[in-house]
Amino acid sequence: MISNLVPVAVDTQTASKDFWARYHAYRRIRHAETRPDDPLQPDHLVEQRMKREDPFEFEHRYEISRDGQMMSYLIAATGRPGSPGYDSNKDFMWADASVHPDFRRRGIGRSWIPLIVELMDRHGCTTLTTGSEEESGHAFLKWLGAEGKLGGAENRLELSTVDWAMMRRWSEEGGKRSPSTKLEVYDGPLPREMWEDYCPQLTAMLNTMPWEQLDHGDIVVTPAVLAEWFDRMEMQGTVLHTMLTREPDGTISGITDMNYAPYKPNMIDQQFTGVRTDARGRGLGKWLKAAMLLHVKEVHPELERVVTGNAHSNAPMLAINTQMGFRQYRAGIEYQITRARLLARPGA
Ligand SMILES: CC(C)(COP(=O)(O)OP(=O)(O)OC[C@H]1O[C@@H](n2cnc3c(N)ncnc32)[C@H](O)[C@@H]1OP(=O)(O)O)[C@@H](O)C(=O)NCCC(=O)NCCS
Repeated sequence: MISNLVPVAVDTQTASKDFWARYHAYRRIRHAETRPDDPLQPDHLVEQRMKREDPFEFEHRYEISRDGQMMSYLIAATGRPGSPGYDSNKDFMWADASVHPDFRRRGIGRSWIPLIVELMDRHGCTTLTTGSEEESGHAFLKWLGAEGKLGGAENRLELSTVDWAMMRRWSEEGGKRSPSTKLEVYDGPLPREMWEDYCPQLTAMLNTMPWEQLDHGDIVVTPAVLAEWFDRMEMQGTVLHTMLTREPDGTISGITDMNYAPYKPNMIDQQFTGVRTDARGRGLGKWLKAAMLLHVKEVHPELERVVTGNAHSNAPMLAINTQMGFRQYRAGIEYQITRARLLARPGA
């Protein structure tokens, strides 16, 4: 079995060249296993991202390696005291672990349990959240005693299948049905003078997303959070596109945003789309989605597909996406388990 293997903490600030070589070899194997047709993020961008300390979260990374080969990797995170939304999120730790396909079913996965419990105790966390899109992950998490709480999928839209006449119609009809509502377009970070006003409106919309059975705290976006997102995007060369609808009194009634990373020029990530509950049923969601699709196709002519993630229970969003032509690419489940139940597993 694996009794002589121990998890070793990774400090990305001081990690050696050997660590990065092991890590990049490992993530290539995982990439080939999970998303073989997608471009791989270049090593230097990955290192840059992992070396940047998150001001709002503690991030703990560990590896299990032998003879210069990484066999397993784990990341766990939880909010830093004082970070926006800390009070309602402090009980939760999020983690993701994987084992090299050649070394599964030898007890490596279960050997992470004592470390996770120790990290949860260090931060006073009582619930662990983790997810999987793989059969092995579902089987392991069921064995662990974790409960599936939120079902979702990565959905993709192939631009070759889009009915562009319908998209133009949605976009035009949106404006006609709400003649006093303005559509605003921003390429790149939002202007700083908007942040104070934008953050509470985005926060309110984000917290209307369905969570199904998942226990969770509030999402709180402040100007400091936005600044961190924008700095990271600039550092990574990612381009943000935002569209919003604004009512005559200045209220933002709908938001949609997409991220474009130049290392994968044929795809773009559709992030959040939300319409205020009191503005639903007016076609704003379709207007925003169609206008954004027409816009990014114009700005990035090399695009072939849009990638997004949705909860299975998000009926209004899925209805729009399905009409546009989005199809399921990979399904996944978010699981939770309490510290007490983790301790009850063998190996803990
Ligand atoms: C999930 C994962 C980390 C498990 O790692 P592992 O080292 O193979 O797990 P273990 O050997 O400790 O398995 C513990 C128990 O889980 C169950 N289990 C694990 N993988 C299983 C599988 N593919 N099929 C059925 N049961 C499985 C078994 O009961 C196993 O005990 P047993 O081998 O004595 O029967 C690994 O399969 C993986 O990397 N999957 C892809 C990533 C992922 O989905 N991670 C999600 C978890 S955060």
